[in-house]
Amino acid sequence: MKPCEEEGPGAAAGGDPWKECMEAAVQLARRAGQIIRKALTEEKQVSTKTSAADLVTETDNFVENEIISALKEKFPSHRFIGEESTAGGSKCVLTDSPTWIIDPIDGTCNFVHRFPTVAVSIGFAVNQELEFGVIYHCTEERLYTARRGQGAFCNEKKLQVSKETDKSKALILTEIGPKRDPETLKLFLSNMESLLKAQVHGIRVIGSATLALCHLAAGAADAYYQFGLHCWDLAAATVIIREAGGIVIDTSGGPLDLMSCRVIAAGTKEMAMFLAQEIQTIHYRRDDEN
Ligand code: IPD
Repeated sequence: MKPCEEEGPGAAAGGDPWKECMEAAVQLARRAGQIIRKALTEEKQVSTKTSAADLVTETDNFVENEIISALKEKFPSHRFIGEESTAGGSKCVLTDSPTWIIDPIDGTCNFVHRFPTVAVSIGFAVNQELEFGVIYHCTEERLYTARRGQGAFCNEKKLQVSKETDKSKALILTEIGPKRDPETLKLFLSNMESLLKAQVHGIRVIGSATLALCHLAAGAADAYYQFGLHCWDLAAATVIIREAGGIVIDTSGGPLDLMSCRVIAAGTKEMAMFLAQEIQTIHYRRDDEN
């Protein structure tokens, strides 16, 4: 697959074929962050998508349009998967083509409530392999970045996951996901109960899957699991965690499937396997089935 050099001169400089793409992602994430920061305290038009807890605002749509149209102009042959474009009916399929995977506001429910844990997430895959990830924490102005094989950083400070292997010393992160039917809630609460009975130190839910995963990459928590997140919540964060030395796998303990809407991430293999053994599956439709 030809890299960004296809699109213009100087793109493949320094033997890093996707450098220009990553620079564009950083610039667009920062610009989106400014828009989101400003909109956070303003009145919003809020609608629901798959459930009463799955929210979207005009800012989600505006930011996604801004990012995708800027990237399309620069890289016309690339493909795009965006949270709001998918909600609007676009196909969510990962091919071998260079593909941008975008969540314009991760933590939309937080955004609606002015709870300041919101991020922009931009991941990039080629030949179905994740090449880089950029996540911008809009209110704290923290930029998380990682390029495959080149480490993970937060505002240029190198990230390193926790090396904790003992479940009784674990701080675990999760997110609730959009479904609220009785069966889903029963499984969600029973998973929490199992972990608490296993005597972990604590469980946290912050309302943004991408930022929770960034905390894991920074060593501020030991493990993460979730059912009901999407490829746009996972793409950029997966590169960041792996480059910070962590593990991102399927909830069964097998390899990650980006479209499966489920994940375990951890600083160590022991912690990941502990979660895989403890938690029960909550079924969600795959992203590429829509
Ligand atoms: C959601 C948030 C939420 C998580 C969902 C995500 P959105 O993303 O990260 O905390 O539970 O699974 O899809 O809708 O705010 O972009």
